[in-house]
Amino acid sequence: MIAEIAPPPTPKSELTAAADSPSPRPVKAGLMPLFSTWIYRCQPGPVHLNARLEELTNRLRQDERNAAHRTNAGGWHYAFDFFELKEPIVAEYREQMEQHVQAFLNHFRPEGGKKRYEFQLRGWINVNQAGNTNVLHCHPGCFLSAVYYVKVPQDMKGGEIAFRDPRGPAVAMYETPGIDLPWVGSGMGIPFSPGTGELLMFPSWLEHRVEPFEGGGERISIAFNVSNPDAPQAEHR
Ligand SMILES: [Fe+2]
Repeated sequence: MIAEIAPPPTPKSELTAAADSPSPRPVKAGLMPLFSTWIYRCQPGPVHLNARLEELTNRLRQDERNAAHRTNAGGWHYAFDFFELKEPIVAEYREQMEQHVQAFLNHFRPEGGKKRYEFQLRGWINVNQAGNTNVLHCHPGCFLSAVYYVKVPQDMKGGEIAFRDPRGPAVAMYETPGIDLPWVGSGMGIPFSPGTGELLMFPSWLEHRVEPFEGGGERISIAFNVSNPDAPQAEHR
Protein backbone atom coordinates (compact mmCIF):
# COMPACT_ATOMS: atom_id res chain seq x y z
CA MET A 1 0.00 0.00 0.00
CA ILE A 2 1.26 3.46 -0.79
CA ALA A 3 0.80 5.95 2.04
CA GLU A 4 -0.22 9.21 0.49
CA ILE A 5 1.76 12.23 1.56
CA ALA A 6 1.28 15.90 0.89
CA PRO A 7 3.33 16.77 -2.18
CA PRO A 8 5.72 19.70 -2.00
CA PRO A 9 4.12 23.07 -2.80
CA THR A 10 4.31 24.15 -6.40
CA PRO A 11 6.58 27.16 -6.98
CA LYS A 12 4.70 30.38 -7.87
CA SER A 13 6.08 30.59 -11.37
CA GLU A 14 4.76 27.10 -12.08
CA LEU A 15 1.38 27.98 -10.55
CA THR A 16 1.08 30.83 -13.03
CA ALA A 17 2.04 28.52 -15.85
CA ALA A 18 -0.42 25.89 -14.60
CA ALA A 19 -3.24 28.46 -14.49
CA ASP A 20 -2.61 29.24 -18.14
CA SER A 21 -2.48 25.56 -19.08
CA PRO A 22 -5.73 23.84 -20.14
CA SER A 23 -4.89 20.62 -18.25
CA PRO A 24 -2.29 21.06 -15.48
CA ARG A 25 -0.47 17.81 -14.72
CA PRO A 26 -1.48 16.52 -11.28
CA VAL A 27 1.31 15.95 -8.77
CA LYS A 28 1.44 12.50 -7.27
CA ALA A 29 3.76 11.57 -4.44
CA GLY A 30 3.79 8.67 -2.04
CA LEU A 31 5.88 6.39 0.09
CA MET A 32 6.01 2.65 -0.22
CA PRO A 33 7.89 0.03 1.75
CA LEU A 34 10.09 -2.18 -0.38
CA PHE A 35 11.73 -5.50 0.47
CA SER A 36 9.38 -6.32 3.33
CA THR A 37 10.08 -9.47 5.32
CA TRP A 38 7.05 -11.67 5.92
CA ILE A 39 6.61 -13.40 9.26
CA TYR A 40 3.72 -15.84 9.82
CA ARG A 41 2.51 -15.90 13.39
CA CYS A 42 -0.29 -18.17 14.60
CA GLN A 43 -1.60 -18.39 18.14
CA PRO A 44 -2.92 -20.86 19.06
CA GLY A 45 -1.61 -23.56 16.79
CA PRO A 46 -2.55 -27.24 17.26
CA VAL A 47 -2.42 -27.23 21.06
CA HIS A 48 -4.51 -30.43 21.20
CA LEU A 49 -1.35 -32.25 20.05
CA ASN A 50 0.93 -30.82 22.73
CA ALA A 51 0.59 -33.51 25.41
CA ARG A 52 1.42 -36.30 22.95
CA LEU A 53 4.26 -34.30 21.38
CA GLU A 54 5.74 -33.79 24.83
CA GLU A 55 5.35 -37.48 25.63
CA LEU A 56 7.12 -38.40 22.37
CA THR A 57 9.91 -35.92 23.14
CA ASN A 58 10.50 -37.43 26.56
CA ARG A 59 10.52 -40.93 25.07
CA LEU A 60 13.13 -39.95 22.44
CA ARG A 61 15.34 -38.30 25.05
CA GLN A 62 15.76 -41.57 26.86
CA ASP A 63 18.04 -42.79 24.07
CA GLU A 64 21.27 -40.79 24.06
CA ARG A 65 21.87 -41.58 20.37
CA ASN A 66 19.00 -39.20 19.58
CA ALA A 67 20.85 -36.13 20.87
CA ALA A 68 22.84 -33.84 18.56
CA HIS A 69 24.62 -30.55 18.67
CA ARG A 70 23.69 -28.01 15.99
CA THR A 71 23.14 -24.30 16.60
CA ASN A 72 22.18 -24.98 20.20
CA ALA A 73 24.43 -24.01 23.09
CA GLY A 74 23.16 -26.38 25.73
CA GLY A 75 19.76 -27.98 25.64
CA TRP A 76 18.68 -31.10 23.77
CA HIS A 77 18.41 -31.26 19.99
CA TYR A 78 16.91 -34.25 18.19
CA ALA A 79 19.53 -35.71 15.85
CA PHE A 80 17.28 -36.98 13.04
CA ASP A 81 14.39 -35.88 10.87
CA PHE A 82 11.36 -35.62 13.11
CA PHE A 83 9.02 -36.28 10.18
CA GLU A 84 10.55 -39.66 9.51
CA LEU A 85 9.27 -40.99 12.84
CA LYS A 86 6.55 -43.55 12.23
CA GLU A 87 4.23 -42.23 14.91
CA PRO A 88 0.57 -41.21 14.50
CA ILE A 89 1.23 -37.99 16.42
CA VAL A 90 3.96 -37.05 13.93
CA ALA A 91 1.57 -37.62 11.02
CA GLU A 92 -1.01 -35.38 12.73
CA TYR A 93 1.59 -32.70 13.40
CA ARG A 94 2.75 -32.84 9.78
CA GLU A 95 -0.80 -32.44 8.51
CA GLN A 96 -1.30 -29.36 10.69
CA MET A 97 1.99 -27.76 9.72
CA GLU A 98 1.43 -28.41 6.02
CA GLN A 99 -1.83 -26.46 6.27
CA HIS A 100 0.03 -23.51 7.79
CA VAL A 101 2.67 -23.62 5.07
CA GLN A 102 -0.09 -23.64 2.44
CA ALA A 103 -1.67 -20.64 4.17
CA PHE A 104 1.63 -18.74 4.21
CA LEU A 105 2.30 -19.40 0.53
CA ASN A 106 -1.27 -18.73 -0.60
CA HIS A 107 -1.35 -15.41 1.21
CA PHE A 108 0.48 -14.04 -1.81
CA ARG A 109 -2.01 -15.41 -4.34
CA PRO A 110 -5.25 -13.67 -5.32
CA GLU A 111 -8.69 -14.84 -4.16
CA GLY A 112 -9.85 -17.52 -6.53
CA GLY A 113 -6.26 -18.28 -7.45
CA LYS A 114 -5.21 -20.31 -4.43
CA LYS A 115 -3.30 -23.49 -5.18
CA ARG A 116 -2.00 -26.55 -3.43
CA TYR A 117 1.77 -26.40 -3.28
CA GLU A 118 4.14 -29.37 -3.18
CA PHE A 119 7.02 -29.20 -0.71
CA GLN A 120 8.91 -31.29 1.79
CA LEU A 121 9.37 -30.79 5.50
CA ARG A 122 12.32 -31.70 7.66
CA GLY A 123 12.05 -31.12 11.37
CA TRP A 124 13.68 -31.51 14.73
CA ILE A 125 12.88 -31.04 18.40
CA ASN A 126 14.57 -28.54 20.72
CA VAL A 127 14.43 -28.74 24.49
CA ASN A 128 15.85 -25.72 26.29
CA GLN A 129 16.35 -25.13 29.95
CA ALA A 130 17.39 -21.94 31.75
CA GLY A 131 20.58 -20.56 30.20
CA ASN A 132 20.41 -22.52 26.92
CA THR A 133 20.63 -20.54 23.69
CA ASN A 134 20.89 -20.87 19.93
CA VAL A 135 23.53 -18.80 18.19
CA LEU A 136 22.72 -16.53 15.25
CA HIS A 137 22.04 -18.64 12.18
CA CYS A 138 19.88 -19.12 9.11
CA HIS A 139 18.72 -22.27 7.31
CA PRO A 140 20.35 -22.84 3.92
CA GLY A 141 18.81 -25.24 1.41
CA CYS A 142 15.17 -24.40 2.05
CA PHE A 143 12.77 -21.47 1.58
CA LEU A 144 10.70 -21.36 4.78
CA SER A 145 11.62 -22.19 8.35
CA ALA A 146 9.32 -22.47 11.34
CA VAL A 147 9.12 -23.17 15.02
CA TYR A 148 6.14 -24.42 16.98
CA TYR A 149 6.20 -24.09 20.77
CA VAL A 150 4.87 -27.23 22.40
CA LYS A 151 5.60 -26.12 25.93
CA VAL A 152 6.81 -22.81 27.37
CA PRO A 153 7.42 -22.46 31.12
CA GLN A 154 4.87 -20.17 32.75
CA ASP A 155 7.54 -18.17 34.56
CA MET A 156 9.92 -17.88 31.60
CA LYS A 157 11.82 -14.58 31.56
CA GLY A 158 13.70 -13.95 28.33
CA GLY A 159 14.01 -16.79 25.85
CA GLU A 160 12.98 -14.66 22.89
CA ILE A 161 13.63 -15.66 19.32
CA ALA A 162 15.24 -12.57 17.81
CA PHE A 163 15.22 -11.93 14.07
CA ARG A 164 18.18 -9.94 12.84
CA ASP A 165 17.39 -7.02 10.61
CA PRO A 166 18.20 -8.40 7.14
CA ARG A 167 19.72 -5.06 6.20
CA GLY A 168 22.49 -5.97 8.61
CA PRO A 169 24.50 -3.30 10.38
CA ALA A 170 23.62 -0.67 7.77
CA VAL A 171 20.60 0.51 9.74
CA ALA A 172 22.82 1.54 12.65
CA MET A 173 25.50 3.23 10.60
CA TYR A 174 24.05 6.68 10.18
CA GLU A 175 22.64 8.62 13.10
CA THR A 176 20.50 11.63 12.33
CA PRO A 177 20.01 13.72 15.49
CA GLY A 178 16.82 15.75 15.23
CA ILE A 179 15.62 13.97 12.10
CA ASP A 180 13.35 10.95 12.45
CA LEU A 181 14.26 8.28 9.97
CA PRO A 182 12.18 5.10 10.35
CA TRP A 183 14.90 2.86 9.01
CA VAL A 184 17.54 3.83 11.55
CA GLY A 185 17.67 1.15 14.19
CA SER A 186 20.12 -0.54 16.48
CA GLY A 187 20.81 -3.40 14.08
CA MET A 188 20.00 -5.75 16.93
CA GLY A 189 16.82 -7.17 15.45
CA ILE A 190 13.27 -7.78 16.59
CA PRO A 191 12.59 -10.19 19.48
CA PHE A 192 9.46 -12.35 19.72
CA SER A 193 8.51 -13.77 23.10
CA PRO A 194 6.79 -17.06 22.34
CA GLY A 195 4.02 -18.73 24.32
CA THR A 196 2.80 -22.31 24.42
CA GLY A 197 0.97 -23.18 21.22
CA GLU A 198 2.52 -20.42 19.12
CA LEU A 199 3.78 -21.00 15.60
CA LEU A 200 6.22 -18.74 13.78
CA MET A 201 7.24 -19.12 10.13
CA PHE A 202 9.74 -16.98 8.29
CA PRO A 203 11.98 -16.97 5.23
CA SER A 204 14.87 -19.37 5.78
CA TRP A 205 17.44 -16.71 4.92
CA LEU A 206 16.31 -14.54 7.83
CA GLU A 207 18.97 -14.82 10.51
CA HIS A 208 17.77 -15.46 14.03
CA ARG A 209 19.03 -16.46 17.44
CA VAL A 210 17.45 -17.69 20.65
CA GLU A 211 18.11 -15.81 23.86
CA PRO A 212 18.61 -17.60 27.18
CA PHE A 213 15.75 -17.57 29.63
CA GLU A 214 15.47 -17.58 33.38
CA GLY A 215 12.98 -19.71 35.19
CA GLY A 216 12.32 -23.29 36.05
CA GLY A 217 11.17 -26.04 33.76
CA GLU A 218 11.84 -26.83 30.13
CA ARG A 219 10.78 -25.31 26.86
CA ILE A 220 9.95 -27.74 24.08
CA SER A 221 9.72 -26.58 20.50
CA ILE A 222 9.56 -28.37 17.17
CA ALA A 223 11.27 -26.58 14.32
CA PHE A 224 11.16 -27.46 10.65
CA ASN A 225 12.40 -26.39 7.25
CA VAL A 226 10.32 -26.30 4.10
CA SER A 227 12.01 -26.97 0.79
CA ASN A 228 11.24 -27.83 -2.79
CA PRO A 229 10.02 -31.46 -3.00
CA ASP A 230 12.98 -32.56 -5.10
CA ALA A 231 15.61 -30.49 -3.30
CA PRO A 232 18.48 -32.48 -1.80
CA GLN A 233 17.95 -32.84 1.89
CA ALA A 234 19.97 -30.15 3.61
CA GLU A 235 21.22 -30.87 7.06
CA HIS A 236 18.78 -29.48 9.55
CA ARG A 237 19.88 -27.08 12.27
FE1 LIG B 1 16.75 -21.69 13.36
